[in-house]
Amino acid sequence: MKADILRQEFLDFFKAKKHKLVDSDSLVPKDDPTVLFTPAGMNQFKRQFLGYLSGFTRVATAQRCLRTDDLDKVGKTPGHHTFFEMLGNFSFGDYFKEEAISFAWEFLTDELKIAKERLWVSIYKDDDEAYKIWKGKIKVPENKIIKLGDKENFWPSEAKTKGPNGPCGPCSEIFFDQGNAVGCGRPDCDPACNCGRFVEVWNLVFTQFNRKEGGKLEPLPKKNIDTGMGLERLTAVIQGKSNNFETDLFQPIVREITANIESGVGATNKELIYAVADHIRAIIFAISDGVLPSNDGRGYVVRKLIRRSRMHLWGMRIEKPFLYKLVPIVAQIMKVPYPELLRRRENISEIILAEEKSFISTFHSSENLFNEKFNVFINKPDPDQVGKIAFVLYDTYGIPLELTQDWLDKHGIKFSKDSFNKELEEQKNRSKLQSAMKGDVFDIKDLHLTA
Ligand code: SER
Repeated sequence: MKADILRQEFLDFFKAKKHKLVDSDSLVPKDDPTVLFTPAGMNQFKRQFLGYLSGFTRVATAQRCLRTDDLDKVGKTPGHHTFFEMLGNFSFGDYFKEEAISFAWEFLTDELKIAKERLWVSIYKDDDEAYKIWKGKIKVPENKIIKLGDKENFWPSEAKTKGPNGPCGPCSEIFFDQGNAVGCGRPDCDPACNCGRFVEVWNLVFTQFNRKEGGKLEPLPKKNIDTGMGLERLTAVIQGKSNNFETDLFQPIVREITANIESGVGATNKELIYAVADHIRAIIFAISDGVLPSNDGRGYVVRKLIRRSRMHLWGMRIEKPFLYKLVPIVAQIMKVPYPELLRRRENISEIILAEEKSFISTFHSSENLFNEKFNVFINKPDPDQVGKIAFVLYDTYGIPLELTQDWLDKHGIKFSKDSFNKELEEQKNRSKLQSAMKGDVFDIKDLHLTA
């Protein structure tokens, strides 16, 4: 089944369950300065979760999302992305755990015909109500219901101890077992293992508490449901692929990149191809939502993704500007939910081409850049500062550390890897905050709360 059909089946299924189908919000959330990009389906419904209703209590969406927290993993793992689509159904004080669990199970097993035996679930360790529903009503065998803690099965993760204040609750996740040929091969492997055998398909959040200062969890007068299922992962499961990049959402992009790798380059590095296939979607959708490459905020994320992609292309010896050529391919793949991409493809291509060309010329003068930034340290060693600058070159210009290190070695300049790593860690924390999945996703202070 193609991803386009899967997306539609999800929406049709919930429409039949009396959900209003709401369009995906922009990647740049309106009236919500708490996040840089839309990180999840629930983002556009923060007001409804807090009780400000707009005439509907059941909603389903296929939300375009962008997160940068896992940037370094993208391409290297089968299921991490910057840009992805999140399928979600939501209840604002309407149905709760029993219906949410039943709907999810019915969709996966009746509608999509996923074999029940392949599915496992996790619940929050103290959530007896969810346990009873999975075991008693849905009849999932006891050994396939695993109990996890605050980090894995509470949303926002660890909110009980670390905050933020506001609506939160236990969650229950549904996993697909790819079988013991995938992953660690241990006979007792289960979804708590991170070997990759179990694909986390759907997260059902039971938003039932209001966290108060000091960590007190007060029951909300109206309980909500917030679910999220990555279309890319679900597509891989349905298409029998163990890597999202092998699905029809990515394969035409992967083929185009592969076809442009010069013959004789040797074994193709799939990780690099997959990373570019991921990043180009994020770049195109961000530009389409009005974000131009620049030196700060959202624009900086786009610039960084273009530069990282360009570095990856060099790794495959694709020397000439190339990224822009992927725009019509992505537009074609996504034309059903996003027909506007086909209309805007030339304009988006031009923006990407200009940025890629300008980076290529900066990069070709990297010798100048290195001289300019590091020469002063030849006679005045300061390994910490050199580490910091190496990080800026990596982060802002996408210049791989190995390249910088080579140059520093040649010139006898000492460099501190610890200082580089510290900057990297700080940047990751900043990204997390900006994606705000775990931090201020429910932070209401900046929202304009009108009914
Ligand atoms: N908000 C939850 C998540 O992002 C479920 O949609 O996983």
